[in-house]
Amino acid sequence: MPAGNGTESLMIPAIRNLTITGHARTAGRIAIPDRAAPATPPQGNICTLSGPRRESEKQSIYAVKDVVSERLIKYIIPKTFALKGIPVRTVFLNGQYMAENEARVSIFDRGFLMADGVYEVTSVLDGKLLEYEGHTKRLVRSLNELDMARPKDFDALLDIHRELVRLNKVEQGSVYLQVTRGVADRDFAYPKDAAPTLVLFTQSKPLLDTPASRSGIKVIVIEDLRWGRRDIKTVQLLYPSMGKMMAKAAGCDDAWMVKDGFITEGTSNNAYIAKGSKIITRQLSNDILHGITRHSLLEYAREAQMQVEERPFTLQEAQAADEAFISSASTFVLPVVEIDGVPIGDGIPGTTAKRLRDIYIVESRKRAI
Ligand code: PDD
Repeated sequence: MPAGNGTESLMIPAIRNLTITGHARTAGRIAIPDRAAPATPPQGNICTLSGPRRESEKQSIYAVKDVVSERLIKYIIPKTFALKGIPVRTVFLNGQYMAENEARVSIFDRGFLMADGVYEVTSVLDGKLLEYEGHTKRLVRSLNELDMARPKDFDALLDIHRELVRLNKVEQGSVYLQVTRGVADRDFAYPKDAAPTLVLFTQSKPLLDTPASRSGIKVIVIEDLRWGRRDIKTVQLLYPSMGKMMAKAAGCDDAWMVKDGFITEGTSNNAYIAKGSKIITRQLSNDILHGITRHSLLEYAREAQMQVEERPFTLQEAQAADEAFISSASTFVLPVVEIDGVPIGDGIPGTTAKRLRDIYIVESRKRAI
């Protein structure tokens, strides 16, 4: 492919026989890593892209010049990259599907400057969404609690989730959704008329037969230094990140947090213990995130005649329990086999956690959409 600052045309092999329909439009820039650029000289002119090449980034930046429909951005470019072994996801940003390396958000976005945003993570199993309704309800709650407007694509959220799962061929993994208050000059006061920024992307990863589900996880215990509205799922995740790093430094997998002598939750999951025939987990309040997995899990546990107590518990009670475990969208149920260096029960995954994990997977699979 010719280099330099002149106009270059590029025939993307995958679209050779495709007639692009739709409105001609300038779609900004398309960045193509050099290793993905076609080796053969351009043939034909179904799509003409032009622009300078950036040597420093080892990629070619093309301004879209000619007839380029949304189809090109949504389907063809990711496919072309995939053919060349370069994974490029299709993501969704403010009304448009695009290649992940094309998605750009302003430096003035309040999510970036103030952590002024909320998010949801919806798991995907068998290419279907788990607990979609619960996640959307909690998203609405988070937006309301922060007086944040709904993005204009809000009613189409389910379609967007499904379309991303389909386009990116996600069998197991998740859809991440984030809404921020939008772009405005930096000011602590909320802007009056900023349009919310809406971002969705997928992540493919195994959820079912993971090493952690077989061996269980080890947790350390740290003080809960997060803000007082942990029930709102905001993007301010620095303390949970610090907690995960502290756990890693201690040779563990995660951290449980303690406030006023009682465990609140894990850095990105709800915390439980089991003693005798009882399952104990902290009651809902502003101190913990109201886990969607937690909600369903407790319902399934009660249906299976298990006894559930929603109340605070201490580190000492947890260390003396028969079992401990966590729940979240991305882990379902995982046994906890050690807390702050003390083995729980026999120090191996217990039967209650295993049973609850199995029930949760079977039930949520049945309800997946
Ligand atoms: N975390 N508590 C906290 C602090 C969380 O961040 C999460 C979820 C949960 C479990 O909620 P749910 O069951 O709705 O996933 C509890 C997600 C998975 C994350 O941040 O990736």
